[in-house]
Amino acid sequence: MRVNLFLFPIKKNYYRYVVITNTMADQGNNEKDVDWSKRNFLKAMIIIAAGAATVGVVQGAVRDIITPQVGITAFPSLTIVGTDGKPLKYSDIPVNSANIWVYYYPVTDDPNFLINVANSKGVPQEVPPQDVYIPATGGTYHYPGGVGPNNSIVSYSAICQHLGCKPPIIHPYPAGQSIPGVVFSLEEHPNGVIHCGCHGSTYDPWKGAAVVTGPTTHPLPPVWLKYNSDGTFTAYNMNGPTIYGRVDDFVGTPFPTGTTTTPITIIA
Ligand code: FES
Repeated sequence: MRVNLFLFPIKKNYYRYVVITNTMADQGNNEKDVDWSKRNFLKAMIIIAAGAATVGVVQGAVRDIITPQVGITAFPSLTIVGTDGKPLKYSDIPVNSANIWVYYYPVTDDPNFLINVANSKGVPQEVPPQDVYIPATGGTYHYPGGVGPNNSIVSYSAICQHLGCKPPIIHPYPAGQSIPGVVFSLEEHPNGVIHCGCHGSTYDPWKGAAVVTGPTTHPLPPVWLKYNSDGTFTAYNMNGPTIYGRVDDFVGTPFPTGTTTTPITIIA
């Protein structure tokens, strides 16, 4: 007796094996005794089952690409670490640097600027707590201000709120440093700006990353920082607009350790 094993779909992504014996063909060992209508039916079922299985696999793969399966449920508290993997200290963060300092928070997919705000003479400037205006809605939200010995360390999302350009095309420019093709008032923005070269949006790091020039209609969302007694920094919260391109701020890949960020990136 010959035993045949067939795969039949019973519901989405689930299949059942069915054993069918072909006693007629085996006993007579004669091809003319085979029931060809039954054989063709079974062949058709095999092809259908294989097709359904393939569609199920493809659907699952596409679903995983479009919708990340990971995320977080609350803003984590993460110590910001330097390029050497050690906790960053205030003295590590330069003023008026031509380089861009970026770290990731609240998940590994979201870059943020880390800026030591200073005037054109290189003197750190306190960034006071303040309400930040949202041109798109006419509303405001509260920014808690800078931290560190001079309350001059700030952090904002590095994804432009207009159409999502990322560093280095969106770039902090310290006080007195010129932006190619752009003129801004040193009197109105004496402590530098953040400028996006994609379409010209500008934000003020001394004013909670409020909008200076459009086309953006939203400020850059701030990361709330804590300056610890051992001189390190902890990122622990965000508010303001949702990070550009995210359904909410919690979608993405969590940090592996859950206690520190990945090493900071310095972009020349
Ligand atoms: S994406 Fe930044 S100005 Fe358009």
